Amino acid sequence: MSDRKATLHVEGMDPIELPIYSGTTGPDVIDVRTLVSQGLFTYDPGFVSTASCESKITYIDGDKGVLLHRGYPIEQLADESSYLETCYLLIYGELPTAEQLAEFEASVTMKTMVHEQLVNLFRGFRRDAHPMAIMCGAVGSLSAFYHDTMDIADEAHREESALRLIGKMPTLAAMSYKYSVGQPFMYPRNDLTYSENFLHMMFGTPCEESQIDPVLAKAMDKIFMLHADHEQNASTSTVRLAGSSGANPFACIASGIAALWGPAHGGANEAVLDMLEEIGDVSNIDKFVAKAKDKNDPFRLMGFGHRVYKNFDPRAKVMRKTCDEVLDLLGIEDDPLLQIAKRLEQIALEDEYFIQRKLYPNVDFYSGIILKAIGIPTSMFTVIFAMARTVGWIAHWHEMHSGPYRIGRPRQLYTGETARDYPKK
Ligand code: CMC
Repeated sequence: MSDRKATLHVEGMDPIELPIYSGTTGPDVIDVRTLVSQGLFTYDPGFVSTASCESKITYIDGDKGVLLHRGYPIEQLADESSYLETCYLLIYGELPTAEQLAEFEASVTMKTMVHEQLVNLFRGFRRDAHPMAIMCGAVGSLSAFYHDTMDIADEAHREESALRLIGKMPTLAAMSYKYSVGQPFMYPRNDLTYSENFLHMMFGTPCEESQIDPVLAKAMDKIFMLHADHEQNASTSTVRLAGSSGANPFACIASGIAALWGPAHGGANEAVLDMLEEIGDVSNIDKFVAKAKDKNDPFRLMGFGHRVYKNFDPRAKVMRKTCDEVLDLLGIEDDPLLQIAKRLEQIALEDEYFIQRKLYPNVDFYSGIILKAIGIPTSMFTVIFAMARTVGWIAHWHEMHSGPYRIGRPRQLYTGETARDYPKK
């Protein structure tokens, strides 16, 4: 916080003094909360310049391509840490000791099984339902199964719900896939790591022991970690907004899943693959790049650009490396979609339109390619993003409930009809 003040001059009004606060790093913020008492609102569609809350969890410097979780750079976490250790860090604020980590991993593992009645909920969906549609319903329904820990004012309840959500998301995600392909649901296995367990529940069958490639499990773990949190994006803000009304954690996370689904946000990884398939051949790339640049055409290059990163997406750098490792391991060199992706990346990085607008490949460009190589069906890509982001959502929800907060209630610039009389009959 600082003593600096901003003075707002509005024609016909006395100057209005507004306090300025400084965080530990990043842009200062002007506190506009008193403006309402002067009959004024601020106007910021898309929240481009608005800080909606104070937070200590994640910091992004979009111009420098920096992403820190509790101060630790994402590149270092990706090299040294694991997804579950990052989960601990996001929720509790510090890296765990070896003992704390073992205890945390054991607690999550013990919560991976879901209530058997949930099987009946799944059976109510059409087999061709999109797994994200199933996830919105299944995660929301957890509040009907685990209502013993829904006192949001009780820290122990909040912690238990957090662990339940982190533990059960891979199980529900894999169930949504198994249901769509008509295979039996696989129970989680306590002897496996978090990512191994997910691959087991996705690809295993009761007919034989799952064979899990440790390199693929490691790549999955990295994908989870790189998606774990990203400060106040659309889905996290949705979770905070839902949470600000006092809604239960499962309902809040379901609202985050819904917000994530759109192609401008988490749905982009699926949209990247759809786009590569639509392009179909390297010879068509120029046509699609021209479409992306045409202002009269709504088409955009999926997996390019970011609201905050205007230099590069640091997650994309790590993901690109993982992508090369996985493709190398699997011996995938000649895959036609991969050829299109590589050429597209090259063209876009050299094209003036993309350079001028600072549109770089984002995390979803590479994650889609890795997931496809691992054999994950495209419709599951956003589900995997949701699984991994659950910890970020829950960390923000928990942070909000750990201090004073008010219900989120944005205002508007009303441009509709003013009061008029209903016509007499
Ligand atoms: N292809 C072509 N042009 C683009 C693209 C794109 N992917 N992204 C932005 N532009 C253009 C846009 O038309 C505008 O041009 P102009 O200034 O001439 O009007 C300029 O770049 C700025 O774009 P914007 O829409 O004002 O930027 P935004 O911050 O509102 O949107 C975005 C950010 C991520 C929604 C957008 O870049 C986009 O739609 N990208 C494709 C979808 C995608 O990959 N999303 C995943 C984001 S990373 C995962 C996550 O965190 O959710």
